[in-house]
Amino acid sequence: MLFPKNFLWGAAASAPQTEGHSSTNGKSPSIWDKWFELAPDKFYQHQGPENTSDVYDLYLEDVENMAKLGLNSYRTSIAWTRLMPDGVHVNPEAVTFYRQYFQALRDHGIEPIINLFHFDLPWWLMAKGGWESRQSVTKFADYAQVAFEQFGDLVQRWVTFNEPLVQVKAGYLYGFHYPAVVNFRKAVQVGYHMLLAHTLAVQAFREIAIPNGTIGIILDVTPVYAKTTAPADLQAQQAADLLNIRSFLDPVVLGQVPDQLLELLATNELTPTTLSGDGAAIAENTVDFIGLNYYRPKRVQAPKKPATPAQMPNELYEDYEWPDRRINQYRGWEIYPEALYDVALMMRDEYGNIPWFVSENGMGVADEARFKDASGHINDQYRIDFMKEHLTYLHKGIAAGSNCFGYHVWTFVDCWSWLNGYHNRYGLYSVDLDNHYQRQVKQSGLWFKELIANNGFE
Ligand code: BG6
Repeated sequence: MLFPKNFLWGAAASAPQTEGHSSTNGKSPSIWDKWFELAPDKFYQHQGPENTSDVYDLYLEDVENMAKLGLNSYRTSIAWTRLMPDGVHVNPEAVTFYRQYFQALRDHGIEPIINLFHFDLPWWLMAKGGWESRQSVTKFADYAQVAFEQFGDLVQRWVTFNEPLVQVKAGYLYGFHYPAVVNFRKAVQVGYHMLLAHTLAVQAFREIAIPNGTIGIILDVTPVYAKTTAPADLQAQQAADLLNIRSFLDPVVLGQVPDQLLELLATNELTPTTLSGDGAAIAENTVDFIGLNYYRPKRVQAPKKPATPAQMPNELYEDYEWPDRRINQYRGWEIYPEALYDVALMMRDEYGNIPWFVSENGMGVADEARFKDASGHINDQYRIDFMKEHLTYLHKGIAAGSNCFGYHVWTFVDCWSWLNGYHNRYGLYSVDLDNHYQRQVKQSGLWFKELIANNGFE
């Protein structure tokens, strides 16, 4: 099974989950640093964001290891709080760090794909209302502009946000991320401000005009599957699709928030506050490409207690557990590789076959040290199988004409995960927390090397 020529093979990560040095080198606190200080019990084994995988010190070793496996691309993010600790001044230490890091990637033939935001809102901005406040939109655009100016000679492929809807859902509906507010109206307003922040960042990017530069966004998108074809289940599917997928994918690719979503919001008294000119800005600043993170499908059914106006999404649709599902028992997520084929066709048929790539796919497993083989490598055959299955369906989608240009695994070296700390590991390399974050390749890393060398697998 061969993949297209020049296919991007790589891995993804984020600044807060890998860099460490979270309170040093001029960085100011993000909501994660502050939340850990305020409520350490929420974090698995009190593992906070301070140290993570020490990429700040070890980036060169990681880049060399990436080159050994043959990666031709790598995505990480810039920490806003490191680059602009007070939102106004640029931190020279951060500029030096990121320039050296991105240059090292380039020197090793690895294209840096750089994301501006991966859940790590500055604390100073949270104190002013965070994404609920309209000023977050312009503050983000200012930061984006500084990043383009500082690193535009080293980075051509840019990304504005990673999974903005996760921030909306986790922060304003389900309590997983700070500020853990539960309020549907606020969630919609926050999502709208993030969409506009993205839009103004794209506008700034177009004005700066980095040679050969392209810009996109990374979304957690999967087709929504209904329990049955009964009208109530299909109606639930449509609401879930509008809120979870089309709310971002339509405006960023097609330049317009779908009418059906506007109606759904109006019916439920959720219409966000907007300013004149917003719609035109969204229409004029569509993206060049999309990154899609895929881990698990979304399955829904009719709500048991429907309500209008809905106070929570589960009054519009309810999650459904398919009895035949396979589960990654460590993370509790369904494994359904077939969805990548459906995603590929959705991008082909409903989004003008815009260039897109799988920007994250991976399997988090706990206690992996128990799988060490005689050679001392973690033998993570389950991860190899997981990637093979997903790549098989992705390949089928590409063969059907979908314009997919790459596949990035989450992640290269085991990294810190928000509330789960180092519980589930995703890396192609392990890190030893008791031994100065020492890295060691897993069997999946060696398999990935072969995959890249062959541009496919049997
Ligand atoms: C993705 C995020 O959705 O899932 C990552 O972009 C995250 O930041 C990854 O780490 C895996 O999820 P988790 O919660 O197991 O770390």
